[in-house]
Amino acid sequence: RTPVVLDVDTGVDDACALLLASLHPDLELRAVTCVGGNAPLADVVRNTLTVLDVCGREDVPVAAGAARPLLETPVDARHVHGDDGMGDLDRPTSTRSPDPRHAVELLRDVLLEAAEAGEPVTLVPLAPLTNIALLLRTHPQVARGLERIVFMGGAAEVGNATASAEFNVFHDPEAAAVVLDAATELGIELVMYGLDVFYGPQVTREQAAELLAQDGPARLAGELITFQCDRFGTGSATIGDAGAVCAVIDPGALAVRPLPMRVELAGTWSRGRTIVDRRDWAGNLAHDPHGEAPARVGVALAVDGARYTRLWLETLQPGWSG
Ligand code: BDR
Ligand code: CA
Repeated sequence: RTPVVLDVDTGVDDACALLLASLHPDLELRAVTCVGGNAPLADVVRNTLTVLDVCGREDVPVAAGAARPLLETPVDARHVHGDDGMGDLDRPTSTRSPDPRHAVELLRDVLLEAAEAGEPVTLVPLAPLTNIALLLRTHPQVARGLERIVFMGGAAEVGNATASAEFNVFHDPEAAAVVLDAATELGIELVMYGLDVFYGPQVTREQAAELLAQDGPARLAGELITFQCDRFGTGSATIGDAGAVCAVIDPGALAVRPLPMRVELAGTWSRGRTIVDRRDWAGNLAHDPHGEAPARVGVALAVDGARYTRLWLETLQPGWSG
């Protein structure tokens, strides 16, 4: 089983990702850390505990991390995710308390233990990268405990928070830039599951209705997808962040290219954009006017969306055959 840790801003689609990571037999979910993003931090922690309770995963430690970006003013996305950040489903609040450690400390402890045991962890950030930037700068020795980082964020093409920028990177561009820089310095492999693939795996209203007819995690999954369809007036919704967890379980459904990438930190209309260089790199390297070589990121450029939808639905409904 692949050991994983998720960093989330739950978040309707973070909840979809937590359901998958909690229940899939190929994954061993070791911890979940929270950061302000889609909703304020306290809501993110509460929503995260709710999902893990529904999955019977009270064993997984959950820690609160950064409440706000390194430099930016937080701008949440409750217009997308609901007033409570997770679809306003009126689910019971967990009676469990979060781990007393700060998210960065929990990540450090889990990753150093993994390094010690020789079982490196795949870290899956699905939110603004604030916690991960703080982690890599404060405790660079955790690199030994990291298999790789598969993050949802960025885009080679268009954005969503703005025409240029994807929400997670837009929310904390400095953190994203720090993660690129630190990963390069520490030799950590980065895979970007960005907007180019994010909308590929879709679940229809009909499939959501099948989920709703059941109990437990399947029912919650059905509520989340139905909320998204209602909010946008669509006949289907993306599993969103859950696709990045699928990418860990089934990487063969993704077309990934290692490409140079930078984060735009200035720019009047482009701040937070991930600038993915798809030029003939070998030819341009010698003439790069910026001098230093940018970080290399495995950018997911295409996905077999139906394959990830199936993976998600099968995990929530064992025996499901479509
Ligand atoms: C990302 O931002 C959030 O709205 C989602 O949870 C996802 O992580 C998409 O841009
Ligand atoms: Ca998210």
